[in-house]
Amino acid sequence: MTHQPTNAPARRLSARAPFGTTPAGEVVEQIELANAHGLRMSVLSYGGVIRTLHLPDRAGAFVDVALGYDTLDGYLTDTAYLGALVGRVANRIRAGRMTVEGRPLTLAQNADGNHLHGGMRGFDKAVWRMEPFERDDAAGVVLSHVSPDGDEGYPGTLRVEVTYTLDDGNRLHVDYRATSDAVTPVNLTQHGYFNLHGAGRGDILDHELTLNASRFTPVDDALIPTGELRPVAGTPFDFTTPHRIGARIGQADEQLRLGRGYDHNFVIDPRDGDDLALAARLTEPHSGRGVDVYTTEPGIQFYSGNFLDGSAVGKGGHPYRYRTGLALETQHFPDAPNHPEFPSILLRPGAEYRTSTIYHFVVRP
Ligand code: GLA
Repeated sequence: MTHQPTNAPARRLSARAPFGTTPAGEVVEQIELANAHGLRMSVLSYGGVIRTLHLPDRAGAFVDVALGYDTLDGYLTDTAYLGALVGRVANRIRAGRMTVEGRPLTLAQNADGNHLHGGMRGFDKAVWRMEPFERDDAAGVVLSHVSPDGDEGYPGTLRVEVTYTLDDGNRLHVDYRATSDAVTPVNLTQHGYFNLHGAGRGDILDHELTLNASRFTPVDDALIPTGELRPVAGTPFDFTTPHRIGARIGQADEQLRLGRGYDHNFVIDPRDGDDLALAARLTEPHSGRGVDVYTTEPGIQFYSGNFLDGSAVGKGGHPYRYRTGLALETQHFPDAPNHPEFPSILLRPGAEYRTSTIYHFVVRP
C-alpha cells in the first residue's frame, strides 16, 4: 500500500535543547518530535520522559494531554512516575524477593517493604543517551541506558534501548530491547498519564475505556496479585465493552477498595495471528480525543490516578489532584517471579528482550 502524499512538517525534529542539570551534574536534554498532522511530543533524556503530547479534538484544537512538569526539578522530586520509562521491573515485587534459578535475590524495597518500579533509582531517574532520527514518514529518538551489575539489587549488566517513533499515521511506536550478561528479571513499561481534556483540566472519570481483557489479576492489600486470574464478567472490572471510568469506580467492591480505585493488571485476550493485540481503547467523549493501545505484552495495568493528591504541581502550575490522570501500562504481570504460573520475565544471556507497544491517537466522531 502506498501512502498518500502528506504535508510533511517543516521540521519533524526540534533542535535538542538543555532542560536542566541533575544534582550529579548530568546535563538533561529535551527534543520535540512532530508529524504531518501537527501532533507534537517532547521527550527528555531524564527518565526517557514523554513530557508533552499535543493531540487535536474534533475541531482541530490541540491540547497537551500528558501529565508532566515545567522544569527538571519537578521530575527530580516526582513520586508518580509521570511520563517516565520504568525498569528494570515495572510494578510490584513482594518484599523485593524472588528466587532466580535456585538463588535468592533481594531487590531494593522502596514501597512499604516491596519493590516498586525498579527501586529507589529506577530507569525513570536515569539520564539516558538520546539519539534523534528522521524518516520520510516519521521522526523519533533512540534512548539507551546501561544498568550496571547490582543496580537496585538486580544481577548482570543490562543494556536497554527504547525507541519512540511518531509517524504520520498518528501512531507512537515504543519499541523496547534489552540484553544482559547474567540472568535477570526485566519488565519494562512507559508510565505516561493521559488526561484527554488536557493535563490539568479536571479529572478523567468521564473518559470511556474499553479493555480487551476478560480476566484480571486481583490484588491483596499490598496491591500485589494473589495469583488468581479472575473473570471480569459481572464486576466493575468488565471493560470488554466501553464504560466511563467513573461509572462504577465508587461501587462497594472488594477489589476497588483494595486498589483505592482501579490499579490492576488486566490479562489481554490475544487474537490469533496478530503480533500486537489491541489492549485498550480510551475516549474523551466531549472532544473526541482518543487513543488505542496495541501491544505484544500479555498484560496492561490500568491505574486511575488514585495516589495523585494535588501535591505534584504540574505544567502551567496545575496541581495534579485525585484521578486527574490515568495510566495504561503495558507489561508482564506484576510479581511474576513469585508466580511460576504467570509468564516469565527472566532474560537470559544470549537472548534479547523485545517488546512493542503502539499508541494510536485518533479523533472519534
Ligand atoms: C503504578 C502503580 C500504582 C502507583 C503508581 C505510581 O501505576 O500501579 O500503584 O504506585 O504506579 O504512583
